[in-house]
Amino acid sequence: MGWNQILCLLCFHFFLHSSLRFALPLCPLDQRDALLHFKNSFVLDSKASDPCQWHFVDSYYQKINPIKSYPKINSWHMGTDCCSWDGVACDDATGNIIGLDLTCSWLHGTLHSNSSLFRLHHLCSLNLFGNNFVGSHISSNLSAFATLTHLNLSSSSFSGFVPSEISHLSKLVSLDLSNNYFFDTHSFPYLGLENSIFTMLVQNLTTLRKLVLDKVNMSMVSPKSFANLSSSLTYLSVCQCSLGGIFPDTVFRLPSLTSLYIGENYNLYWILPKSNWTSPLETLSLYGTSFSGEIPNSIGNMKNLTILDLEDCKFTGHIPSSMWNLSQLQVLWIDENSFSGVVEFKLFTKLKNLRMLYVSQELNLIYDTLEYTFPKLEVLSLFSCNLTKFPFFLNSLKRLTQLDLSSNGISGEIPMWFWGISYDTLELLNLFDNLLEGGIQLLHWKKLSSIYLRKNSFHGPLPILPPSTYYFDVSYNNFTGEIPSLICQFSPLPSPVTYYYSIASNNITGKIPSLICNATQLEIIDLSNNSLTGSLPQCLTNFSTDLSVLNL
Ligand SMILES: *[C@@H]1O[C@H](CO)[C@@H](O)[C@H](O)[C@H]1NC(C)=O
Ligand SMILES: *[C@@H]1O[C@H](CO)[C@@H](O)[C@H](O)[C@H]1NC(C)=O
Ligand SMILES: *[C@@H]1O[C@H](CO)[C@@H](O)[C@H](O)[C@H]1NC(C)=O
Ligand SMILES: *[C@@H]1O[C@H](CO)[C@@H](O)[C@H](O)[C@H]1NC(C)=O
Ligand SMILES: *[C@@H]1O[C@H](CO)[C@@H](O)[C@H](O)[C@H]1NC(C)=O
Ligand SMILES: *[C@@H]1O[C@H](CO)[C@@H](O)[C@H](O)[C@H]1NC(C)=O
Ligand SMILES: *[C@@H]1O[C@H](CO)[C@@H](O)[C@H](O)[C@H]1NC(C)=O
Ligand SMILES: *[C@@H]1O[C@H](CO)[C@@H](O)[C@H](O)[C@H]1NC(C)=O
Ligand SMILES: *[C@@H]1O[C@H](CO)[C@@H](O)[C@H](O)[C@H]1NC(C)=O
Ligand SMILES: *[C@@H]1O[C@H](CO)[C@@H](O)[C@H](O)[C@H]1NC(C)=O
Ligand SMILES: *[C@@H]1O[C@H](CO)[C@@H](O)[C@H](O)[C@H]1NC(C)=O
Ligand SMILES: *[C@@H]1O[C@H](CO)[C@@H](O)[C@H](O)[C@H]1NC(C)=O
Repeated sequence: MGWNQILCLLCFHFFLHSSLRFALPLCPLDQRDALLHFKNSFVLDSKASDPCQWHFVDSYYQKINPIKSYPKINSWHMGTDCCSWDGVACDDATGNIIGLDLTCSWLHGTLHSNSSLFRLHHLCSLNLFGNNFVGSHISSNLSAFATLTHLNLSSSSFSGFVPSEISHLSKLVSLDLSNNYFFDTHSFPYLGLENSIFTMLVQNLTTLRKLVLDKVNMSMVSPKSFANLSSSLTYLSVCQCSLGGIFPDTVFRLPSLTSLYIGENYNLYWILPKSNWTSPLETLSLYGTSFSGEIPNSIGNMKNLTILDLEDCKFTGHIPSSMWNLSQLQVLWIDENSFSGVVEFKLFTKLKNLRMLYVSQELNLIYDTLEYTFPKLEVLSLFSCNLTKFPFFLNSLKRLTQLDLSSNGISGEIPMWFWGISYDTLELLNLFDNLLEGGIQLLHWKKLSSIYLRKNSFHGPLPILPPSTYYFDVSYNNFTGEIPSLICQFSPLPSPVTYYYSIASNNITGKIPSLICNATQLEIIDLSNNSLTGSLPQCLTNFSTDLSVLNL
């Protein structure tokens, strides 16, 4: 093809697109004006979109996926077709505004019930995630959106009660009212949902596929209502909703359900069904509920299960043998229950895809060999497992990022082989509350950032920290000598972490090095109960740091 032909083709495409573009109807003027009114009723404040910075995509791996936040409404101008405005979507045929996506758009101010927003009767999708509506109530004028299929009012500081008109939105496919609380008031900071309204919502929203109500106060809702949820439901998340009572079995049998999150509802209880589970289930997260009884053998039929979190429930009895058939399982938390019997640790190696494993002592684990292969294990917690020495199989783990061996009875010096485990990947090491002794000169791991050595009997000089460190706690040991002058070159991290440095209750002497002032990220410093002398560095006397806690 010659250049002319290519050029011609390009021109043709250009004309095709632009002529199509011009053929589209412009957005109706009344709807344009409604948007402009809406725009003028808010001030812009980047802080209003702070939740967007720490947006998690994977709550188990704490994978942070910040959402770009900027004021979309800045592109909204009177003289232009509002269908071209940022965040606005129009119907190709009629020009009506059918979509409004103002995710993370810096909006700050009250969303009044007389807002011009409610004049956009043709909306199918409305997303206001990550703005600050300073405790506004969700308006009953919501019923103006009869055609709405997607409504997302998450993380936007709404408060008060969800209005009954929510159940008029019978076309909804996805509803997200999660994480709304308003810190500036003390009386009723959380969004509340009444039983009668939830019951109507469940009965009328028959095409609902995704329902996310985390942190909505549902203390008045009877969990029985969940029994009537739409059979098209694929995703249900009601964590930290103050739900109490019996959670109906039928939810576990919803035919399309793939994800069920009901964690941290401490008074919610029942047992797991013995038969007829919904088979597509991939995530089952019940942590911090009062579910009890035995884990039924039928759980082995849930072949697609990848996340199973039963931490801190009240399960009893034996772990069923069918559990080891869950070959897709990547995340398994079964610590802090009341199981009986013994479990051979090697059984966990049958779960070839395991990336995260949390167990604890009531499983009465037996470690019968030196080597176990967990080809994908990244996070391992043997917290409070009655260990008396470092289990040697740790040596074969090549990609651990987090290791928790806290609250065991491990004694003696750290063996040489331990210093090399998962050298390239380890980020968190927790040896809190053991009986460890000896000196530590250097913490070798390449990416180590969180170090918990509190409550042991380590002695000798304080270890030199990797620059990646942001959490360091060696309190309640017997370290001696001075604070290394380069205490820590804490490097800024793209995550919501607290920079913490505690050497409290050791036998550290000498002066506080002035270089502590260069560790500007430090938020908490605890130097108490040592034998430090001399004067304080200047930044600590004139408070010219970001410190929130300094304990001397
Ligand atoms: C709903 O909106 C209309 C028109 O803006 C307004 O007149 C009415 O007062 C609003 N309803 C409520 C309950 O505020
Ligand atoms: C909307 O309601 C608020 C508060 O009730 C009021 O201050 C404001 O004047 C009203 N706006 C319009 C356009 O009616
Ligand atoms: C259920 O939805 C219909 C519209 O599809 C509506 O007319 C009716 O009022 C709703 N019922 C309740 C109880 O909200
Ligand atoms: C609500 O919007 C946020 C931000 O776009 C998104 O992460 C979340 O998944 C949405 N909720 C639902 C139920 O789709
Ligand atoms: C939830 O609502 C109940 C009943 O109105 C109230 O007593 C409780 O304090 C609320 N909880 C929270 C965390 O707001
Ligand atoms: C579930 O729906 C049925 C039929 O609509 C109704 O009779 C029953 O009372 C509902 N149950 C609950 C707990 O809402
Ligand atoms: C399980 O399903 C079978 C076959 O559909 C049915 O006969 C049985 O009653 C169901 N059991 C329960 C507890 O629902
Ligand atoms: C399990 O997942 C696979 C792949 O996503 C899917 O094809 C299959 O239908 C699922 N099984 C069930 C029982 O839903
Ligand atoms: C684990 O330790 C606890 C408390 O020290 C003790 O009560 C329990 O019997 C121990 N379990 C095993 C299996 O040794
Ligand atoms: C610290 O060392 C002293 C003296 O050697 C000893 O008495 C004490 O028990 C040790 N404390 C800890 C926490 O190891
Ligand atoms: C603190 O260390 C000094 C020597 O550096 C030692 O004499 C003293 O006994 C230690 N104190 C404690 C409580 O271990
Ligand atoms: C510490 O900060 C001071 C003043 O900001 C600077 O001059 C000095 O080079 C810094 N030292 C190190 C080791 O970073």
